Amino acid sequence: MLFHRLILAVFFLMHVYGNPCKQRNATYGYVCVCNSTYCDTVPPINVKEGTYQQYTTTSQKLGFSTSKGQIKPSSNGVSKHKIDLTNSKPKQRVFGFGGAFTGSTGFNIHSLSSKAQDNLLESYFGGDGIGYTLCRVPIGGTDFSLKKYTYDDDHDGDVDLKYFALQDEDFLYKIPYIKKAFKLSNNTLKLFGTSWTSPPWMKTNNDYAGVGFLKKEYFQTWAEYYVRFFEEYAKNGVRFWGVTTQNEPYDGFLPTSISQINALGFDNHLMNQFISKHLGPTLKKSSFKDLKIMIHDDSRHTLPLLPEILENPHSMRYVDGVAVHWYANNITPSDYLEQYTKSRFKELFLLGTEACNGFLHSMSLEESVQLGSWARAENYIRDIITDFAYGARGWVDWNMVLDQSGGPCSIDNKVDSPVITNNATGEFYKQPMFYAMGHFSKFLRPKSHVLDVQDGLIKSVAVLRPDGLHAVVVFNEGQNSTNVEIKSKKGFIDVTIQKKSINTILF
Ligand SMILES: *[C@@H]1O[C@H](CO)[C@@H](O)[C@H](O)[C@H]1NC(C)=O
Ligand SMILES: *[C@@H]1O[C@H](CO)[C@@H](O)[C@H](O)[C@H]1NC(C)=O
Ligand SMILES: *[C@@H]1O[C@H](CO)[C@@H](O)[C@H](O)[C@H]1NC(C)=O
Ligand SMILES: *[C@@H]1O[C@H](CO)[C@@H](O)[C@H](O)[C@H]1NC(C)=O
Ligand SMILES: *[C@@H]1O[C@H](CO)[C@@H](O)[C@H](O)[C@H]1NC(C)=O
Repeated sequence: MLFHRLILAVFFLMHVYGNPCKQRNATYGYVCVCNSTYCDTVPPINVKEGTYQQYTTTSQKLGFSTSKGQIKPSSNGVSKHKIDLTNSKPKQRVFGFGGAFTGSTGFNIHSLSSKAQDNLLESYFGGDGIGYTLCRVPIGGTDFSLKKYTYDDDHDGDVDLKYFALQDEDFLYKIPYIKKAFKLSNNTLKLFGTSWTSPPWMKTNNDYAGVGFLKKEYFQTWAEYYVRFFEEYAKNGVRFWGVTTQNEPYDGFLPTSISQINALGFDNHLMNQFISKHLGPTLKKSSFKDLKIMIHDDSRHTLPLLPEILENPHSMRYVDGVAVHWYANNITPSDYLEQYTKSRFKELFLLGTEACNGFLHSMSLEESVQLGSWARAENYIRDIITDFAYGARGWVDWNMVLDQSGGPCSIDNKVDSPVITNNATGEFYKQPMFYAMGHFSKFLRPKSHVLDVQDGLIKSVAVLRPDGLHAVVVFNEGQNSTNVEIKSKKGFIDVTIQKKSINTILF
């Protein structure tokens, strides 16, 4: 009897507190270790009227610690920071957060035992995990593939795309995990597709990378190739929500001595032509007419080139949003996000579509993977908070899973990722970046309304969720712990925000 009660009590506690992080000391800080039989989970949300729940992750204690408290009728008057939501107006609505189903991500998941794979996918997509809902799927190969390829490599001049075919990478490393993610997310997952390059034979340089543009005679074929991709994925049970018009179109102006990344160059003149005469009309005539079309899909520092597209009514008929990457944000004014993304023809949404740490590794300026780095989690948090202040509706990471070297990568461009696999032990490591993403993806649910916050002294994002709860993410980048008072129509909440921590308060 006692034994049974004990078992019941353990079950109850596991449900209330979740599985704690098995924290391990790593070179740059801490990671949480998961394997085939164990993985940490997020304790469930359970907020009663008149109370709040706080989730905390610190540089010293990863995972999600949770605690509860009462909402008070008056201020204690001593909190250093005040977040006032009493008169805040609803701003943009959240689409979601997520990462990219690169070939390398799938390859690394595949390298684990099936039980460990389940733990990993649950961690990213499940109800006990961080609940990703918005992911990018490369259309064909990228640098994070096992080799360079497209879906019609060997048939020069195949204008009817008779030989178009999905490849092993789709069947082994993308589609199976995408389908599991759909299931774990209860079909709330939204996907958008992005292409890196057309088949080399459609290009002026007949290569995957380097200075190359679509040949005039293949603009329409290239638009139809997108439709063929969405058709083939649909046949395999995978539907998409959106598409970007080209990954980093300015990479296609760089010689291979500078970048070996698969690329297809478009200047704005070519892009206007492609969108208004080919991709836009072709998608609208297809069964994929509802796909959200996003332009740019390149870094913030090239946004000043965008107005030539935004000022073109023929393109803007088809365009729904602007996609931005984070590279060079450190040296680019944040207000480019506002200044250069406004169209006089249409209201457009803003979405972060690619980011990773360690990208200067290829120039030998940093390590690809820095296991346990809190500083790299902070880079994510700062960028998400900035993008949201400028109206972004979501933020999508690059590779979801890499190995300990930051690969595999088909060129010399290894980087870091929130989850790192150890293919020798069958373990995987959830880095601080994973928990940074988690505070946003888990708590700022799709369709939440972002609220304007007046404080400004401590970095935060506040939303009103569709379930009626408020969620406030608070980031303390400093070396001292501090107190924050959240004021709302429901009353006053005073919370301690530990040094070097990210917190979410729900009420
Ligand atoms: C690893 O653990 C030791 C104590 O066991 C500690 O002194 C050291 O600072 C830790 N390293 C990191 C990176 O946290
Ligand atoms: C998996 O991790 C758990 C918790 O740390 C540990 O008890 C168990 O021995 C590990 N299993 C294997 C196969 O390493
Ligand atoms: C999906 O639904 C199941 C069953 O209701 C639930 O346990 C799980 O938490 C849900 N997953 C997510 C991501 O909300
Ligand atoms: C295992 O991971 C290492 C990096 O830690 C990598 O160099 C190696 O290629 C991987 N092996 C396999 C079979 O994936
Ligand atoms: C942080 O706390 C230390 C004492 O613990 C103090 O000397 C320092 O001035 C504080 N820093 C800030 C920015 O408040």
